[in-house]
Amino acid sequence: MDPKDFQRAVLNFYQQHGRKNLPWQQDKTHYRVWVSEIMLQQTQVATVIPYYKRFMTKFPTLEDLAKASQDDVLTLWTGLGYYSRARNLHKCAQVIVNEHNGRWPDTVVELEQLPGIGRSTAGAIHSLSTGKPAAILDGNVKRVLCRFYQIEGWPGQSKVHKELWQIAEKLSPEQRADEYNQAMMDLGATLCTRRNPDCEQCPLVSHCKAYQQGTQHQYPNSKPK
Ligand code: ADE
Repeated sequence: MDPKDFQRAVLNFYQQHGRKNLPWQQDKTHYRVWVSEIMLQQTQVATVIPYYKRFMTKFPTLEDLAKASQDDVLTLWTGLGYYSRARNLHKCAQVIVNEHNGRWPDTVVELEQLPGIGRSTAGAIHSLSTGKPAAILDGNVKRVLCRFYQIEGWPGQSKVHKELWQIAEKLSPEQRADEYNQAMMDLGATLCTRRNPDCEQCPLVSHCKAYQQGTQHQYPNSKPK
């Protein structure tokens, strides 16, 4: 499938079914998008929403977060788990305020240097808060791509990981990258799920290799024992 057709199918899905009313999709500043992406790294949307709202009430700006105590940040995180996320979030706010004059870098490469921000999160922050192009590859997107192309091998293997990034970059659109990325994450979270993929509703079904062979459950391949 040509990247243009892939993008068109995904963007149509976004228009028809994409989530557009989540709290972090209103007033999309770097700060608000960043906090949501860190919370969403290992936690589902429904769980994140009340935490996110409390967090934004207590720390409405990057400066408020930077000057808070670590205890206050961790208290708001209690129950979300993976507490290094909260410590990195706090540290990152201080780095931006103290070392970048409170301004967010405007490239993915610079975003990736910040505490707690990996390549995919950097791409998500960049695209979702500015609409500029950037590829992402989180767990949901990996699953969609592994099935669509029947990518062999465990994605934790560096060779497979590299191949997936190449594909993600190749498919990433120049225009409407924010909508495209949100749609890819939504697709993985709501239709192309790990256990029970709802292939009949999927905008990519007609060209999905795993669907054609009935092997959706084998992808992504699991870690070799
Ligand atoms: N997981 C990570 N980022 C997400 C987002 N922006 N929307 C839904 N799920 C996500």
